[in-house]
Amino acid sequence: MNRFHREKVHLQKPFAKKDYLRGKYSYVMKLELSHLSSFSSAEMLASKATDIHKAFSTIYNKNGLGNDFLGWVRLPSSISPKFIDEMVQCAATLHTKSDLFVVIGIGGSYLGARAVIEALSNPFTGTQPQIVYAGHNMSEDYLAALLEVLDKKDYSVCVISKSGTTTEPAIAFRIIKRHLENKYGVQEASSRIVTITDKAKGALKQMADNKGYRTFVIPDDIGGRYSVLTPVGLLPISVAGFDIRKLIAGAGEMERLCLSSQSVNNNPVAQYAAVRHALYEAGKTNEILVNYEPCLNYLSEWWKQLFGESHGKQHKGIFPASVTFTTDLHSMGQYIQEGLRNLFETVISIGQPHHELRIPDAADDLDQLNYIAGSRLSEVNHKAELGTILAHEDGDVPNIRILLPELSETTLGQLIYFFEMSCALSGYMLGVNPFDQPGVEAYKKNMFALLGKKGYEQQSEALKARMLE
Ligand code: PA5
Repeated sequence: MNRFHREKVHLQKPFAKKDYLRGKYSYVMKLELSHLSSFSSAEMLASKATDIHKAFSTIYNKNGLGNDFLGWVRLPSSISPKFIDEMVQCAATLHTKSDLFVVIGIGGSYLGARAVIEALSNPFTGTQPQIVYAGHNMSEDYLAALLEVLDKKDYSVCVISKSGTTTEPAIAFRIIKRHLENKYGVQEASSRIVTITDKAKGALKQMADNKGYRTFVIPDDIGGRYSVLTPVGLLPISVAGFDIRKLIAGAGEMERLCLSSQSVNNNPVAQYAAVRHALYEAGKTNEILVNYEPCLNYLSEWWKQLFGESHGKQHKGIFPASVTFTTDLHSMGQYIQEGLRNLFETVISIGQPHHELRIPDAADDLDQLNYIAGSRLSEVNHKAELGTILAHEDGDVPNIRILLPELSETTLGQLIYFFEMSCALSGYMLGVNPFDQPGVEAYKKNMFALLGKKGYEQQSEALKARMLE
């Protein structure tokens, strides 16, 4: 196991698990709505209670837009232990023969795995095997640099694409497959490749069948950005050494919570969706996801894709942005405090770090830090968090706060389901299909036309004419 912790010590105000007990379910996430600036959470929740109820019904009755893509709703409780065992077994095999594991995918086919792995890994030493990513850009220098590393390491590859035809991962896979075959020979290379794709369609599926690659299926009814709890996320996370059973169990707690109550009075998922929608209607059209732990940067990237791709259509939707504090308080902090007042923040607050580090006393006190000597760094970080929330609230930036007792597979599982369900609810309240992404086709068509792909001749001429203007 690569768990990045040695000992756990309580901060001044430890999370008490009993605070988060709700009936039979012991979920540990807490939502705080007491810093919404001039807005009243009670009024906002009351104003959205009916809409939230309707949105939940639409999801559970499967009668809304995109209802073919609701497989994630009951996913945590429906994954069979046998299937998890198979994935863990496959991950263990890859683990033993690899110093490095390449995850090839883009968007929903890589961000969820990266979010969880980076949230739980040592930021400097990573995991064993080290997880690296490809196919999420088309930078020649990036891939060439990766190949230089792959020359010197034993590695395996997992290529993830639901459609099996996405350009970026297809190019990366073609190049890395050639490298792998040259390095190990075709037969051994095949045993080092796992494909995760649609059960029947797409070039990747056909290639996997032809070559006999180990394959896991992405269910038909789960779209890319909702797929982290399918093999798309679970296999890489398991190869990295993290406990996917706990991740699924955490998500399962949120699944059960949502089934047991859809009320804005006691369900934090409903509350988050309700308040962010009310803020949007009040002109707060930009949401900034804030963290105070840099290991959460990729969770923010995953969250941005989830909400941005699900809601940004028909010229509607909250623009999702993210910052890491206190780092970005020294850059974006100025804008947030005093810029255009169309912002609100959602802060992910982590109760306990996994390590203990205290600020030492200094005889000369030249830096004037002796007043906090003996304090833990996390206490200072938490005071910065509280001070910032209050300052931004004073600056008319409402703050929603999501409190997690610690970073673990279980709490990340809860957070993933929390965001997925609130994203679907918000999408239906907005009146859009939260499960499609028609807008991402525009750049692809132009790129294919400019590259001279067959079938794009007419568009190619039109683009060339525009470029000459
Ligand atoms: O959420 C989505 O559907 C997208 O972000 C896709 O995951 C992304 O475009 C990659 O698609 P595919 O898995 O088909 O390669």
